[in-house]
Amino acid sequence: MQSFEFPTKITHGPGVLAGLAEELRALGVKRPLLVTDKGLVAAGVVNEVTGQLRRAGLDYVLFADVVPNPPIALVDGGTAVYRESDCDGLIGLGGGSPMDAAKAIGVTAVQGGSIRQYEWADPNPVTKRIPPMIAIPTTAGTGSEVTLWSVITDPERKIKYNVGGTPLIGAHVALIDPLLTLALPGHITAGTGMDALAHAIECYTMAYAQPFTDAVALLAMEYVGQYLRIAYAQGQNQEARYKMSMAAALGGMAYGVASAGAAHAMSQTAGGVRDVPHGAITARLLGPVMEYNYMGEPQRFARIAQALGEDIRGLSIWEAAERAVTAVYRLTADVGIPTLQELGFHEDDIPLLAELAANDPQTIGNPRDINYQGYVQVYQRTFDLGK
Ligand SMILES: [Fe+2]
Repeated sequence: MQSFEFPTKITHGPGVLAGLAEELRALGVKRPLLVTDKGLVAAGVVNEVTGQLRRAGLDYVLFADVVPNPPIALVDGGTAVYRESDCDGLIGLGGGSPMDAAKAIGVTAVQGGSIRQYEWADPNPVTKRIPPMIAIPTTAGTGSEVTLWSVITDPERKIKYNVGGTPLIGAHVALIDPLLTLALPGHITAGTGMDALAHAIECYTMAYAQPFTDAVALLAMEYVGQYLRIAYAQGQNQEARYKMSMAAALGGMAYGVASAGAAHAMSQTAGGVRDVPHGAITARLLGPVMEYNYMGEPQRFARIAQALGEDIRGLSIWEAAERAVTAVYRLTADVGIPTLQELGFHEDDIPLLAELAANDPQTIGNPRDINYQGYVQVYQRTFDLGK
């Protein structure tokens, strides 16, 4: 039995940020906690949002302490601010980290305790709806504005773990305004865009794929294939930015209600070992993971090649499936994704990284059986490609 349930109203298009106060009112929120990071304060984006709230006569409390790969203590600290300030709703403004932090603060705000207690398990410890939340992405990649997950770092265990997997944690509204992404630097456009592609590809090929996630995943791949290079080459191109924002949300809808696969099992666990950007590390691993996986689901990989714009007419199914792999390698190179070595990893790390990945729950749905040895093989290949 499978199901597809989705709790988020998606409002999208250039300028939709102007509707923020109205959305808060519709949700009955009078004093939101604005969860964001210092980079967005410095860039003036937070001012844009708070100015709007002030003009609408809405009170708010600013929590701009989010760091990349938000750790447990950060979330628990945010929840303390939420409580002490008598907030009644949340705004998650930023890339994946602030939006995930806002969702996690929502979980502990209604259920109490530390976010450490809410790692996904069966039965799921998340049992109550988070307070009304609006997610405003400022990158195009994570899809966190529409996913049912929050990824939290546990510095003690050196891992990132997932909270959620239930509509109870989904944002109530996603305000997706591509104008917020126009000024993103190229390397962030590249990493986050490839992350969106990874969500789509991993969900489309995993064991728990279903027609509803397949449909959105395929369009996400098409948009990335058509527009990521353009957004990277021409940051101010509004159409490319809008399509990449949609690709991120579509990828998030696929990933958000199911799970991912080996690339995310690897990138999330590696991200717990070394504080690297999630998009860049996922992007670097995606090609080698696909190279390992394609023989498990050749038809689906052939379809991915098509979605990415490859001409597969006259090819055998195996040749077409391989085209998906080479297309992703080409895209990875074109948008300048750093190597594992450039991200600070060493070949000596392989045994530890492979073991952590093998223990990650996302391994289960991977389209080709994979264990510790398989992860060693994929990591070795990824390092070799960086030489
Ligand atoms: Fe991701």
